[in-house]
Amino acid sequence: MAVIPVALCGRSYNVRIGQGLLGRVAEEAAPFLAKPRVPVVADANAWAAHGARLTASLTRSGREVSLLEVPPGEASKSWEMLARLTDWLLAEGVERGDHVLALGGGVTGDLAGFACAITKRGCGFVQLPTTLLAQVDSSVGGKTAINTAAGKNLVGAFHQPALVLADLATLTTLPARELAAGYAEVLKYGVMGDAEFFDWLMANGAGVLALQPGALAHAVASSVAAKAEIVAADERETTGRRALLNLGHTFGHALEAETGFSDRLLHGEAVAAGMVLAARYSARVGLLPREEAERVAAAVRAAGLPARLPSLRLDCDGARLVAHMRHDKKMAGGALPFVLLRGIGAAFLARDVDLADVARFLDAELG
Ligand code: GLY
Repeated sequence: MAVIPVALCGRSYNVRIGQGLLGRVAEEAAPFLAKPRVPVVADANAWAAHGARLTASLTRSGREVSLLEVPPGEASKSWEMLARLTDWLLAEGVERGDHVLALGGGVTGDLAGFACAITKRGCGFVQLPTTLLAQVDSSVGGKTAINTAAGKNLVGAFHQPALVLADLATLTTLPARELAAGYAEVLKYGVMGDAEFFDWLMANGAGVLALQPGALAHAVASSVAAKAEIVAADERETTGRRALLNLGHTFGHALEAETGFSDRLLHGEAVAAGMVLAARYSARVGLLPREEAERVAAAVRAAGLPARLPSLRLDCDGARLVAHMRHDKKMAGGALPFVLLRGIGAAFLARDVDLADVARFLDAELG
């Protein structure tokens, strides 16, 4: 098992990564299970797949589960579900020193984390991520949020978990498309800051996607270690360091907005396509050799992820995609920072990107 610390002054915690952690959750999370009744917030699908193992472990240890199931899907990150969840936590008598278990993907983690951030002005929680995307990204780093009419993740809080247990065995029940979408975030860590890891993924990505235990464990642990280092250096995204994690997300956000934030394009798929666009745009403005940009595209394509805009069958032009970008929450003072590349593994934050040029670039990419 890998144990990756997230070092934060007074609020440090571990991300434990291994096979079968949910089946021994009572032991793994013992310091955070002070009471005999354990509140669990779970994605309904994740509960159906893994709830029995989690319950068995807690029951063996003399505890009982109190469960609130969350309907699967982005729609659960709503004011209504947040109110339901906080009312339930209060009815359960959750106190500040207690810990709630959050089982599922990014939706459950974001929602439950936010509910814990505001219940009694902050109670504890343990992330039990069951998707690759949640294991390598959303469960680590303390970003919690819901969506509102104005957009995605616009209402939330930084609230760090007390522990993350990433059980790699849960990924065996994940649909292949979701696994590939999570892999986009794994690839992101290589493209962003670690050329060696990128090369390793070029050689071993198929093994990761086939859930070969050694390859999978290395990919998840390397990704979490990269994220932990960045979060420790810039927890609240104030120095520009954490913003590098948004590689592919600005272009990706426009693609998600154009496809209605729907199943037509999963978040990870949008990040993959966005990462290729960021690389190609970096090549267009002379920052990155074109062959390097095409290596990023090849890695995305090899994972079965979208590397070309025409494959998304969009009915729009570059100006319309740029208009979506202007609504991105990263807009600051009328400018939109882009994460661009000076090399594979050498991402940086560019604050002077000409959006009219981005629109022309996108027109060419749309074919
Ligand atoms: N997913 C980006 C971040 O946690 O900062």
